Amino acid sequence: MVYSLNLYYNVDYSMVNHKRYDFSVNDVSEVYAGAGGKLWELLMGEQIHVGGPEQTDILAKKAGLDKVGQDITLLDICSALGGPARHLAEKYGINVVGLDITPEMVLEAKKRTEGRPYADKIEYRIGSGLDIPAHRNSFDVVWGQDAWCYIRDKTRLIEETWRVLKPGGTLAFTDWIWGSVSTLEEESDFLMEFMVFPDLQTLNGYSELVEKVGYKIVEKQDLQEDFAKHMDIYIIILQKAKPDIEAGFGPELYLAAEKGVLAWKKAAHEKKVGRGLWIAKKP
Ligand SMILES: C[S@@+](CC[C@H](N)C(=O)[O-])C[C@H]1O[C@@H](n2cnc3c(N)ncnc32)[C@H](O)[C@@H]1O
Repeated sequence: MVYSLNLYYNVDYSMVNHKRYDFSVNDVSEVYAGAGGKLWELLMGEQIHVGGPEQTDILAKKAGLDKVGQDITLLDICSALGGPARHLAEKYGINVVGLDITPEMVLEAKKRTEGRPYADKIEYRIGSGLDIPAHRNSFDVVWGQDAWCYIRDKTRLIEETWRVLKPGGTLAFTDWIWGSVSTLEEESDFLMEFMVFPDLQTLNGYSELVEKVGYKIVEKQDLQEDFAKHMDIYIIILQKAKPDIEAGFGPELYLAAEKGVLAWKKAAHEKKVGRGLWIAKKP
């Protein structure tokens, strides 16, 4: 038998218990109610996820939302400013319920939706993905984009998606994940603390969780390379916006943001962090 002492290289992360961080939902909400939410919108646009509307369309197609004339109701867990909700309602004619824990985000999402021709297709609720305010078997699709990294108890979250999804329904989500190369603790601490992430999964870890609850995975995709390319774009946008950020939020916040995004960019290129996509069916 061959024993490897190289604990820090190409570990199968599905087998590793990653450290969890002591961030509560209040800490995350504080970020999104304050400067953090504005900063992320500045970098990514009002669809606050890697790749913006283009990635929403990719996920929508994989989830089958592009088939015309369907009477579909989708739950977006962590709907933030409602950018994806509006996009999906307008482009695919589906009904969307956006759920977010931060009242300020829900208020802003409602404001931005009012008066739109498709506004009656969208409803926003304040609440947690860990205790979804909805009856069982309510939705045809449960959806999430780059946000479940803010939720510590992923098992509970996936169980909740199962409860509210109709049999035959689709779970479609993307999220930030640990990559195939491991980080030392100090680096992980910095990455997670900068983002206020309590827990990150891995590609295999998420898949195992989803399957354990009973889902059949239709597709899982490692979007690591695309993630690294987008980090290059976000640092450029951030640096260009330096004067505006300094004027609006102060030089300290700019410096902290630049240090954090640079660290994520470096870790992304080293394959230490990435992003994944999952499409799964509830039989
Ligand atoms: C990155 S943003 C989500 C972006 C959004 N999915 C999009 O694509 O535009 C993260 C959001 O998750 C919300 N959030 C964090 N923890 C949550 C929880 N436990 N339940 C519901 N929403 C939560 C935050 O309030 C914040 O608005």
